[in-house]
Amino acid sequence: MSEHFIGSSFKLKIHDLSRGGSGVGRIGERVVFVPFSLPGDELEVEITRAEKRFLEGKILNIQVASPDRVPARCPVFGKCGGCTWQHVPYDQQWRTKKDGVLQALGRAGVQVQGVPLQEFPAEDSWNYRNRIQLRAENGVIGFFEKASRQLVGIEKCDVAKEEINAVLPNLGNQMELSTKRGTQKIELDVRPGAEVRIAVNQPHAAFGFRQVNDAQNEKLQQWVKESFSVRGHLLDLYGGFGNLSLPLSVQMESIDCVDVSVPDQGKSPYSHFHYSKSDVLPWLKKRLKDHEKGTLRWSLPRVTVLDPPREGLGDSGVEIVENLGELQVSQAILVGCDPDSFSRDVGRFLKSNWSLESLAVFDFFPQTPHVESAARFIRPI
Ligand SMILES: C[S@@+](CC[C@H](N)C(=O)[O-])C[C@H]1O[C@@H](n2cnc3c(N)ncnc32)[C@H](O)[C@@H]1O
Repeated sequence: MSEHFIGSSFKLKIHDLSRGGSGVGRIGERVVFVPFSLPGDELEVEITRAEKRFLEGKILNIQVASPDRVPARCPVFGKCGGCTWQHVPYDQQWRTKKDGVLQALGRAGVQVQGVPLQEFPAEDSWNYRNRIQLRAENGVIGFFEKASRQLVGIEKCDVAKEEINAVLPNLGNQMELSTKRGTQKIELDVRPGAEVRIAVNQPHAAFGFRQVNDAQNEKLQQWVKESFSVRGHLLDLYGGFGNLSLPLSVQMESIDCVDVSVPDQGKSPYSHFHYSKSDVLPWLKKRLKDHEKGTLRWSLPRVTVLDPPREGLGDSGVEIVENLGELQVSQAILVGCDPDSFSRDVGRFLKSNWSLESLAVFDFFPQTPHVESAARFIRPI
């Protein structure tokens, strides 16, 4: 039984940084994950969680600090639920993310040796977020602590764009937040060269889903564009408003952009670009019926980009990948923001006769362990 570890304190040397974000040490045979630590740290930790295969601990004190540690910029580092890697130098953040994607692929049984890998670290590792979601309560504005509803007040956020930080000092007065009861949810969003938009108590991504890092998003758009140097039919699945397909609208003969929450269905900027507000799998099944009846009018080659949420293609994944093959799609790009679900979905493509041509890793979220990966596949038709 492992529970007897909980509450005990141990001396621990950290020897690795996990892709989940914690430093890794050992107590006997057991692996211990310690948030906010770094290889080279010598710590006293208290065990806070004990599972059969691993323990988790919190730092009681740092006896010897890793020489690699960098000072955290933010005064609420360690309290606020975001940006848990401020103590990690950026090149180490990047290496851990990239290696983590390769490790997840390996664990899913994907052979990556010989597959070209393109790397897109961030040039700006601070002030990159074009959207943040704050809470306000009793005149205090800030973020919730991790896994808690305890509010941590902030004056600025070092990963938010400067335009967003510029409106924070007056936000309370402007929104008359001190007169409001209960917790308010405030989303701030800024487009390049535009004014900050503010939404109070609206659903998440009130102004529509949009990648939060404009500079890195441009690199992803460009990578997708260069990967499809063809003229044919493009399926942008989990396409949102068409972030990854609109840049291809001049080149492609026709485009279908499918998403459960397309904001203005039918209001497409081009006659050959169609939005469909739908779940991906039923939409593909309908197209398959059209294909069988001989009424599907998509030109060749047929190519697709799939950019699902964190859980990846989920339970529908095998069927989605098979349907693409039956619809004579011959090139595919899969984008994923969780290395494990992404790797599982890459494995599904490979099992369904697709071959992996190249991989790419993008850092959309410096100062956090999050990483975006992409894979390009082809399939004979
Ligand atoms: C990671 S976002 C990508 C959006 C877009 N490709 C972009 O770059 O802005 C994932 C999108 O998947 C959509 N989504 C989630 N589950 C879906 C489903 N089952 N079928 C269709 N779209 C779905 C969400 O609405 C969201 O817009």
